[in-house]
Amino acid sequence: MQSLRQQLLDWFAANSRDLPWRAGYAPYHVWISEVMLQQTQMERGVAYFKRWLKRFPDIAALAKADEEEVLLLWEGLGYYSRARNILKAAQVLLTEHGGKIPADHAALRKLPGVGPYTAGAIMSLAFNEPYPVVDANVERLFARLYDIEAPIKECKKLVWQKARDLLPEGEARQFNQALMELGALVCKPKNPSCGLCPVIEHCRAHRQGTVDARPVMGKAQKIIPIATANGVLIREGRFFIQKRRPQGVWANLWEFPGGQIESGESPEEAVVREFYEETGLVVGGLERIHAIKHTYTHYRITLHCYFVSLLNGKAKPTLTAAQEYRWATPAELMAFAFPAPHRQLIEYLLADPGIRIQNDS
Ligand code: ADE
Repeated sequence: MQSLRQQLLDWFAANSRDLPWRAGYAPYHVWISEVMLQQTQMERGVAYFKRWLKRFPDIAALAKADEEEVLLLWEGLGYYSRARNILKAAQVLLTEHGGKIPADHAALRKLPGVGPYTAGAIMSLAFNEPYPVVDANVERLFARLYDIEAPIKECKKLVWQKARDLLPEGEARQFNQALMELGALVCKPKNPSCGLCPVIEHCRAHRQGTVDARPVMGKAQKIIPIATANGVLIREGRFFIQKRRPQGVWANLWEFPGGQIESGESPEEAVVREFYEETGLVVGGLERIHAIKHTYTHYRITLHCYFVSLLNGKAKPTLTAAQEYRWATPAELMAFAFPAPHRQLIEYLLADPGIRIQNDS
């Protein structure tokens, strides 16, 4: 165990990537980066992190922000509850902890959105306190080091315990990062670079020839296809958008009205029905834009998008699916937060300067 620890620490000292939060391991930087990096590639995470720090250099600046702006900065990272929780946690930190992140695991766990992973990361990376951190990289590394035959998702307790047992005294910061970094750079999911591995002599899967079979994944979740129809209504150069409710999927994000196409229904019928159900507005004069595909968690969504026109002249909506609506200028479309596929639609709409803005109903 001692040689495994030392080899990992030596390897990390020589091979760690130059990441912005590694300059000083400020607790705020560690917190934001670790939440961003959940479900996000490193390169993308670094770009979002830098942009975030420019706008919100510290907890006090963040705590005062509008949720709208926080969501806009988060746009494209998905899982927006992470952003909403960061904002709520910043407000708690400001009022209850003097605007500082406490070096106290139990207090961290009480903050909105802070689970065992984020609390462990802050305690160890920011404060060098002996708490384990296990992400998918570490799970994979351990599945191979210990040749774990059971589906890895069923071994969480075991893997966290191993990560705890392995922690070298006084080295939690470097050691936890060494595990994550080795998983990310060497012990990769496909084609791992075993030739470069500093701990290959300890790797049971390597000895058994089972590296490619580890970790054992449980049954893959079934992909569920969803088709929606969405309408773009333009009046005097402004776009009709609505802000989703504070609960549920894409909470508090803006969108073009629409919804799931029902069985036996055409996308054209669905967009007219959905527009009416969600806004009370009767639309017609459909003109197909195009279909946008988007995958999130285990859903594969296709949005069938249409320009629509008001049929009976009534432009005062009655909202049933949203908290607020707006006739937005192109600049406002850029200033509000939309789910990724709606943002794709906006990019398409705004890429063509002639688009229908002149030609409105
Ligand atoms: N992935 C998530 N957090 C990380 C970290 N601190 N170092 C390396 N890879 C990571």
